Amino acid sequence: MADSVAPEPEAEPDVPTGDGASTGDGAPTAAPDANPATAEDFLPINGTDYVEFYVGNAKQAAFYYAHYFGFEIAGYRGPETGHPDAASYLLRQNDIRFVLTTGLGPDTESVRHQQKHGDGVKDIAICVDDARSAFNETTKRGATAVQEPEVIEGEDGRIVRSAIGTYGDTIHSFVERTDYDGLFMPGFDPYENEFLQTEPAGLRLVDHCVGNVYLGDMETYVNYYAETMGFKNMLHFSDDDISTEYSALMSKVMSNGDEIIKFPLNEPAEGEKKSQIEEYLDFYQGEGVQHVAMLTDDIIETVRDLRSRGVEFLETPDAYFDMLPERVGEIDEDIEVLRDLNIQVDRDPDGYLLQIFTKPQQDRPTLFYEVIQRKGARTFGAGNFKALFEAIEREQAKRGNL
Ligand code: FE2
Repeated sequence: MADSVAPEPEAEPDVPTGDGASTGDGAPTAAPDANPATAEDFLPINGTDYVEFYVGNAKQAAFYYAHYFGFEIAGYRGPETGHPDAASYLLRQNDIRFVLTTGLGPDTESVRHQQKHGDGVKDIAICVDDARSAFNETTKRGATAVQEPEVIEGEDGRIVRSAIGTYGDTIHSFVERTDYDGLFMPGFDPYENEFLQTEPAGLRLVDHCVGNVYLGDMETYVNYYAETMGFKNMLHFSDDDISTEYSALMSKVMSNGDEIIKFPLNEPAEGEKKSQIEEYLDFYQGEGVQHVAMLTDDIIETVRDLRSRGVEFLETPDAYFDMLPERVGEIDEDIEVLRDLNIQVDRDPDGYLLQIFTKPQQDRPTLFYEVIQRKGARTFGAGNFKALFEAIEREQAKRGNL
């Protein structure tokens, strides 16, 4: 959650924009960023290339994503394709690509990662035209080098890939695919299963990926994205904006120049009880990706579809919908339909957005998903944070962690 909201110009005192008594209407005022690094586009970005997850059993997880979320299992890489150490499944839906990877022995990187963190995101990969330049330009500005540029050759051409580190054990690969026209990457073969029929659910692309970091680390990573990747601070919220009776958090959103890539960062703030960010950090055993938001052009259809497949979403209190017309004004959708499906709405100066959050998608209460439809709005639903947090806290209380 917590991605973002009320932006403020730098160097101004924190002015809470939410009205503490409601779900908060943070009227965002856009935050012009004075970061000089943005003036020079040393890291041109085409978009999210893929998100890779390290999981305990990729073969089974692939069917979970196919069944519940409507992904096509499009490719496979493993011992049979010349990769003896790990099995990976490529999932695809419109412009979203997920890769699920499981190591095949105890000393593989993915097994060690999964043992510590549980199933989770390892790599938010970014598509670039020049993976060598991306690596050189970011590392010379202080990015942590993870993978020197490597060329991966195959029948369908070549991929150049490099990678840098970010919070926790998470990385960003830079993927250059200008000389490649195959399925995904050399090493992946098409996945064939005539009995698996998946209908897409209307999920179109990755809208944003949110990271949870330790108290005191948000500023470190805000600076890291600004300095090493030239990202700007699009928005931020303080704990005055986002707090419930029990917990609070602070959030800032970093994005590249044209906002194709958006990385909100959450940091726990002092609260009466353990915040949901702390619960995540405890169970994930470190900093990592809290949620991945996927964009749809018709959230009502998508959520109906996902619910019919069995996807479980967080519940929004009825009172939220009673207050909705007053909070967001006129919208195209029927509020009773939104109430029925538990879809939330938030407005910002550019328009409004509709969103809903799933429950955690593995046994540890860590990673979850957001489904979002944007009708002009460029922000992240700060006005919904309070309602969302309260919903998450109800689940947290059931687990005995509140
Ligand atoms: Fe989000």
